[in-house]
Amino acid sequence: MNHPKRLLLSNLAWSQEVSAREPEFFADLARGQQPRILWIGCSDSRVPAERITNAQPGELFVHRNIANLYTSDDGNASSVIEYAVHALKVEHVVICGHHHCGGVRAALSPPSDALPVVNRRIAGLRDLAGRHRDELLAIEDFDARVDRFAELNVIEQVRLLRESPIVRSAPRPPQVHGWIFGLREGLLTQLTDMDEAREIADSLTETHAETHAVRDAA
Ligand code: CO
Repeated sequence: MNHPKRLLLSNLAWSQEVSAREPEFFADLARGQQPRILWIGCSDSRVPAERITNAQPGELFVHRNIANLYTSDDGNASSVIEYAVHALKVEHVVICGHHHCGGVRAALSPPSDALPVVNRRIAGLRDLAGRHRDELLAIEDFDARVDRFAELNVIEQVRLLRESPIVRSAPRPPQVHGWIFGLREGLLTQLTDMDEAREIADSLTETHAETHAVRDAA
């Protein structure tokens, strides 16, 4: 079966399944949205925001582009951020990169003549790679270098967004977080807000320990 047709049939099945489980679900969605989180991620098909976070429709306001970039001269990204921050008043912005990112890899490779628009788009990433040249060249394995640069890129995008007028001029500026998605494990890791990251890790360890204690006691 061709792919678009499969998507339409899957949609029909999903809609019926959700309506059967929660009859008011779609009526509630139609009343409006009040997402608390703006997600800025990569367009990569392997990193679907809602799927990897188990978020429901209505929870995430989403912008995705190649290599999850924010630049103030990008009208598309800026308009999404402006609407999310100033109209929807989201409390958090998550910039999520991922390992094995093709856009990040391209920025560490010679430009491709076949992709002039992409080349222009990732020019800023090439500059960023230059600024981290020593750290990146010290990583011999190219795949590992790409993964590290994907992380450095997220941290840079978080910095740019935190300092942007669009965020700073908000009556209550949202917190901007930087995350990376590891494809091999399917896990998100925090790259910024390390205090919070430690707290979450500790609580997970405690939950894990409690689970073991309960199981051991049984
Ligand atoms: Co990517």
